[in-house]
Amino acid sequence: MSPILYKLAKKALFQLDPERAHTLTLSSLRAAENMNILSTLMGPPENDPIEIMGLQFPNRVGLAAGMDKEANCVDAFGRIGFGFVEVGTLTPKAQPGNPKPRVHRCIPQQAIINYMGINNPGIVEGMENLSARKSFRGVVGVNISKNTSTANEDARADYLYGLRAAWSYADYIAINFSCPNVKNLCNLLQAAPAADLLASLKSEQANLSTETGRYVPLVMKISPDMGEGQIRELSKVFIDCQLDGLICTNTTTTRGGVEGHPAAQHSGGMSGKPLYDKSTEVLAAFASELGGSIPIIGVGGINSPEDAVGKLKAGASLVQLYSGFIYQGPNLVRESVRAMRAYTESQG
Ligand SMILES: Cc1cc2nc3c(=O)[nH]c(=O)nc-3n(C[C@H](O)[C@H](O)[C@H](O)COP(=O)(O)O)c2cc1C
Repeated sequence: MSPILYKLAKKALFQLDPERAHTLTLSSLRAAENMNILSTLMGPPENDPIEIMGLQFPNRVGLAAGMDKEANCVDAFGRIGFGFVEVGTLTPKAQPGNPKPRVHRCIPQQAIINYMGINNPGIVEGMENLSARKSFRGVVGVNISKNTSTANEDARADYLYGLRAAWSYADYIAINFSCPNVKNLCNLLQAAPAADLLASLKSEQANLSTETGRYVPLVMKISPDMGEGQIRELSKVFIDCQLDGLICTNTTTTRGGVEGHPAAQHSGGMSGKPLYDKSTEVLAAFASELGGSIPIIGVGGINSPEDAVGKLKAGASLVQLYSGFIYQGPNLVRESVRAMRAYTESQG
């Protein structure tokens, strides 16, 4: 996409409230895709095919969860060049999320603070939207969580419901215990509840696999707000239960790098450039504990192609973008694919 065109679009969109800008961007992308304009604007996608978790990824750059919550823009994001798109987070029942305004930009720091609270139309509608996609040939992940009104003690039923509902539509299913905007959700990232819930989910995965003759990898999305002990204990749990993949990381409740910005006082998870180091350190710590036994998708603060390569160096096999895509625009996708391809080729 022409950098001038993107600059103009960004200037206009950044005049709007962030959530409104997001809705408008998605509806414009959908319209452009339906009118066949996006492929002309964007040109052919960059390829760097790789097999991870038994899935064929056309390249290593994915769209992180939360951008296409309703799963109705997958074709458009494919045209932009993403090799995989993770839709959701979706919960069993539709829910409105937290009161607005709930998304804030910290522009000088290229960060976002969001307190969305997993607003979504429910997994059944999400899967209907997803199945209406036409052109996307990449990998689709479906990110699932429990409803906010469901207590942690009853979370198992919600996650199992999500797993069953997503099974036939997803190439992989991402389990979200790490959203900081749902009260107490991250408590499920303690080793004991995580082991308990993952055992049920892995068992249901085996049942569904036998029933349908198709294996859908289960991937866990974790928080960057963890100490060494928790990382060590969780790594053991993930290895023991034969988790298929890990996504490092979600947003942080800390405010390092945005101190003093008026938006820093709002509740919510921070993403974007200031998250990069923290998120990459957690990724490197998991990579070291897991010793290559579980593939890792690196996400958090990627704002340049060099940042994407940095995630590979820390131990990731794939990356995802969210805030960097907003601040840097669609060219970040292709540039990151090219940079990672050059890096992996240089490594032989
Ligand atoms: C507005 C917004 C909404 C998000 N919603 C979700 C979500 O529904 N589920 C999820 O797993 N992550 C969600 N995320 C987190 C992103 O997927 C990603 O993990 C995080 O933003 C870090 O990446 P980044 O620094 O590139 O943005 C959201 C992030 C933002 C900024």
